[in-house]
Amino acid sequence: MPQDLERIYGRLGFAERAVYSNFVTSLDGVVSLGSHPSAGSVISGRNQADRFLMGLLRACADAVLLGAGTLRATPGHHWTPEHIYPDLAASFARLRAGLGRKPQPRLFVLTSRGDVDLSHPAVAGGATIVTTSTVAARLRDALPVSCDVLEVGERGPVDVARALSLLRDRGYAVVLTEGGPHLMGQLVEGRLLDEAFVTISPVVAGRDVDERLGMVAGVELLPGNGAWSRLLSARRHGDFLFLRYAVRRS
Ligand SMILES: NC(=O)c1ccc[n+]([C@@H]2O[C@H](COP(=O)([O-])OP(=O)(O)OC[C@H]3O[C@@H](n4cnc5c(N)ncnc54)[C@H](OP(=O)(O)O)[C@@H]3O)[C@@H](O)[C@H]2O)c1
Repeated sequence: MPQDLERIYGRLGFAERAVYSNFVTSLDGVVSLGSHPSAGSVISGRNQADRFLMGLLRACADAVLLGAGTLRATPGHHWTPEHIYPDLAASFARLRAGLGRKPQPRLFVLTSRGDVDLSHPAVAGGATIVTTSTVAARLRDALPVSCDVLEVGERGPVDVARALSLLRDRGYAVVLTEGGPHLMGQLVEGRLLDEAFVTISPVVAGRDVDERLGMVAGVELLPGNGAWSRLLSARRHGDFLFLRYAVRRS
């Protein structure tokens, strides 16, 4: 790692093949705010240390994998290191070069309905839509030249394990997912996630009429099938906690 990054975070590295997640959660376990956009920024209060960690984790990855729900909920965003933390753009670029990564992580967006805004800047800037052959046939002609489609299966939800295996075949072996909760549910249930980075923001978000999700949705694991994890590191910055867990694969 470049020294300035290591001075801030300490050492960080991943296996040659890895899938890791990054979420910010409120004290009461909320990661999404119903239809309110950009929930992560609101929950972290745009905390600079959290934004730095987001940049660092993006800088380590070959690819960033999202569910289309997160793309729809985050207008105007780019899932790149320098977009979230521009002050250290040059250091992130040095880190990527040192790791032998391409200049930017490739964005992969999962969708089964094909409800992807092709004018979203992150898509227009270059992304791969991961979907079924049925939806791919509908999308392909409308895609900007910067985009392509990865077909996985014919219809219904994409088999996420198969999608990750195809990513690896294409050279994307170190994958960061920034969610959202429904994609996380499949990664955890399928024992496909190696590590989870969790930022705990010192705010109570509350829940009432809106659906406010936790980090995992769409699956029930406990009792009986909980994904027990091992704490790899705990860091503190002010009132924020930055936790890194190894998630048991089986
Ligand atoms: N606090 C944080 O750190 C954080 C991080 C990420 C997201 N969030 C929040 O989470 C909320 C979104 O939650 P979410 O659970 O809806 O997000 P999500 O998992 O990103 O999106 C769900 C959508 O992804 C697509 N998808 C997921 N799995 C698929 C599969 N196996 N095959 C094909 N398509 C698949 C589907 O899109 P189609 O409907 O197009 O088929 C599905 O409706 C937003 O409010 C966002 O701000 C918070």
